[in-house]
Amino acid sequence: MTLRILFAAPRRLWPEFEAPLRRALAEAGIEADLAPDCADPAAVDYIVYAPRGTITDFTPFVRTRAVLNLWAGVESIVGNLTLTQPLCRMVDPGLTQGMVEYVVGNVLRHHLGTDRFVRPPAPHWDVRIPPLASERKVAVLGLGVLGLACARALARLGFDVTGWARRARRVSGLRTRSGPAGLRATLAGAEIVVTLLPLTPATENTLDAGRLGLLARGACIVNPGRGALIDDAALLAAIASGQVGGATLDVFRTEPLPPDHPFWAEPRITITPHIAADTRAETSARVIAENIRRDQAGQPLLYLVDRNAGY
Ligand SMILES: NC(=O)c1ccc[n+]([C@@H]2O[C@H](COP(=O)([O-])OP(=O)(O)OC[C@H]3O[C@@H](n4cnc5c(N)ncnc54)[C@H](OP(=O)(O)O)[C@@H]3O)[C@@H](O)[C@H]2O)c1
Repeated sequence: MTLRILFAAPRRLWPEFEAPLRRALAEAGIEADLAPDCADPAAVDYIVYAPRGTITDFTPFVRTRAVLNLWAGVESIVGNLTLTQPLCRMVDPGLTQGMVEYVVGNVLRHHLGTDRFVRPPAPHWDVRIPPLASERKVAVLGLGVLGLACARALARLGFDVTGWARRARRVSGLRTRSGPAGLRATLAGAEIVVTLLPLTPATENTLDAGRLGLLARGACIVNPGRGALIDDAALLAAIASGQVGGATLDVFRTEPLPPDHPFWAEPRITITPHIAADTRAETSARVIAENIRRDQAGQPLLYLVDRNAGY
């Protein structure tokens, strides 16, 4: 049987994803009619989805068995009331590896204080020796696919890592905490904080003025999660007061970050344009094909979103 698969993502992504998806579907033994348009929504079996594509109303897709999100974050689709089909988010080994590289690179940069040697305003010979990683307290907020991979990589480098998640769990080699008291304990005295939470009503402004005040003085923030996890004004005030020493931000409440946003004028904030970790066409196509294969074989879909929790 030929499955109708609709690629409902912004058109610019079709040339990048078409060939990898066709290859992966063929390798998984799936006979597919894959297209970026469809004349008859009622005939579509699966939707490969990304925001700002062709669909806002899922009601006509009466036959669709699952919506397979191309991105890891689902905050722009999870609240869509017309979506009654199962929603899967993207867990892609290429994306995970990219995030580990971004986080480890930026944590090491803050840890070693290398920015002070990059084009110094005047000749200087700054011989302050950074502590060893084992003497550096790092907090990782979010212990999902990405947060856990980053926390493990940092722990392997020797950092003193504490991870925080919604539900309590044990992870060998990591100190883990959960719940509001766990968050306070995780942030207390932390010198570098990595935020890899999804954006949900419960996680918005996780780093507000009060919680930024718990960190070690001069702490640094690395945020590749979502912009609204941090209260922008509180972060700027904490940097101005010296409570926060610097931040590397990849994600923002509005993207691209508007030219008049005060983050641009703060030299202690490094802005990267939402490039921490991209979904890679080759590896993600295999994930999508495998999920369709599983569903067709009567096996449970992987990476199902919990619509109540919002991620
Ligand atoms: N900048 C980029 O390029 C980029 C790329 C990809 C993803 N991202 C962002 O990274 C986020 C994380 O991705 P992921 O794949 O790691 O997600 P995930 O596997 O769903 O993990 C989410 C983690 O956050 C925790 N969490 C959720 N709500 C919480 C709450 N209220 N309190 C405490 N912890 C909470 C979860 O706790 P439990 O473990 O207890 O469920 C889980 O550990 C995505 O949602 C996306 O926003 C950014």
